[in-house]
Amino acid sequence: MALYALGDLHLSFGCPERPANLKKGVWRDHEERIRNNWISTVSEDDTIVLTGDFSHGKTEEQLRPDIDFLLALPGRKIMLRGNHDMFWDAKKTSKLNEKYTGSLFFLQDNHAVYESKSKKYALVGTKGYCFENLDSLEHCMKLEEREAARLRRSFDSAVSAGLGNFIMFLHYPPTSPIWPPTPELCRALGMSRKEEAVIRRDERALLSKRNGDNNGHNLVINLKKLPRELKNRASCVTQIDSSPFTEIAEEYGAETVIYSHAHGKERFGDSLSGNVRGVRYQLVSGDYLDFRPYKIME
Ligand SMILES: [Fe+2]
Ligand SMILES: [Fe+2]
Repeated sequence: MALYALGDLHLSFGCPERPANLKKGVWRDHEERIRNNWISTVSEDDTIVLTGDFSHGKTEEQLRPDIDFLLALPGRKIMLRGNHDMFWDAKKTSKLNEKYTGSLFFLQDNHAVYESKSKKYALVGTKGYCFENLDSLEHCMKLEEREAARLRRSFDSAVSAGLGNFIMFLHYPPTSPIWPPTPELCRALGMSRKEEAVIRRDERALLSKRNGDNNGHNLVINLKKLPRELKNRASCVTQIDSSPFTEIAEEYGAETVIYSHAHGKERFGDSLSGNVRGVRYQLVSGDYLDFRPYKIME
């Protein structure tokens, strides 16, 4: 009766063409490794949470072969939305849950129950969001706010059901992985040229450290060396080891936060790992785990 997680299956069996970034490296024939690792790890009475980026299928027809692949594997499956899961409209989650009753559970604005040997847990979660230098900070904060509200709804549904032990799931890393000292951002934060220069100097140190050992903790420690006056002004910088999502995890007392989305060695250290302020953080993106389901507990 173990609990597992695995993110980023990135299946595309029903798509007209395999997405270009899935044609090389660890992604070549990765479906076969998913299947083999899954079968040798997960039993029929285990539970596994798939933390998003499940399918590239955009239509019902394109999605079907990916669902069939999944349903042929053992275990109770719980799904979470990723940024690639275009088939899943968050507002229509109840329809998906009706359609797949008894075979898949879609985690959104609701919760699932998992009973370990010693405790009864609520499995809660949402896609989440973080700043990756791909959009404006303003847009990022808007999405973060929406996802934080969805996460609260998930926790609250579990609390209403009388549950008090939580394992929390996100697709995106819980904190913004890339320190965003773009010139645009520096201007938006009203920084002087001198302050911007300090940020850029620190960015170089940060990047060399990140590329050296991919250790998220170093990233956090490094950023904490920022001058106090900059910390106060650049709120996004000081949020690197906290975010609305970590705050909610701490507020409700989640034991563990599981997340994925980070791909490639240079991104594995993007966010928190291990114990941070009483919450355990674990990355489970497919390529990070070499597509072997991660055992959270039993
Ligand atoms: Fe993703
Ligand atoms: Fe992904």
